[in-house]
Amino acid sequence: MIITIDGPAGAGKSTVARGLARKLGFQFLDTGAMYRAVALAGLRGNIDWGRPDDLARLATTLNIELAGDRIFIDGEDVSEAIRTQETTAVTRYSAANPDIRAYLVERQREMAAKADFVTEGRDQGTVAFPDAAFKFFVTASPEERARRRLLDLQRQGESASLKKVLEDQNRRDRQDSSRDVGPLLKADDAIEILTDGLTIDEVVERMASIVKAG
Ligand code: C5P
Repeated sequence: MIITIDGPAGAGKSTVARGLARKLGFQFLDTGAMYRAVALAGLRGNIDWGRPDDLARLATTLNIELAGDRIFIDGEDVSEAIRTQETTAVTRYSAANPDIRAYLVERQREMAAKADFVTEGRDQGTVAFPDAAFKFFVTASPEERARRRLLDLQRQGESASLKKVLEDQNRRDRQDSSRDVGPLLKADDAIEILTDGLTIDEVVERMASIVKAG
């Protein structure tokens, strides 16, 4: 069974997706980590961002593996490196690249065919798994999302201000919603959950009861 969770950055998707997967005994697929990994490889390879074909070619040479919370490129654990502000800033180049999207969506389908999965991203219910058994669209207000993102960054030892985080987030929201391929979009049949004021456990509980009710 596939359960998809889509929504904007900082809505708490990853945490609730992990929690839901654990509760149901499903595997968890963080598809944002895949776009980040390609961008990180581009940074490291000094790619010319103005040449999308070069990045697409590079993407197909990478062995990207996901194991629980960790992500590896060619065997190297890059779980922290993909979440720096530097990598986050260039991830739009992989996310807006149609060839890379097609390639990663194929990889996602291959992985998800092997077990029960909760998959998380922007296009999971619309593009990657339109026939998913359950689709959720998780949102929160921009201020709430920025506060959570700031806490995450501080936990990773990065310094940032709420103002900067909010500005970056607004820019990413615009990029996510306006790109031609795989834009952030709520599937018609997705259940929307606004997480402001809810704890992670409450959100997971709400989703799990919807799944159990069938
Ligand atoms: O979810 P996360 O913030 O890690 O995603 C990183 C970036 O990857 C997002 O800004 C988004 O543009 C992109 N993304 C995507 N499609 C997905 C998941 C993430 O385009 N399925």
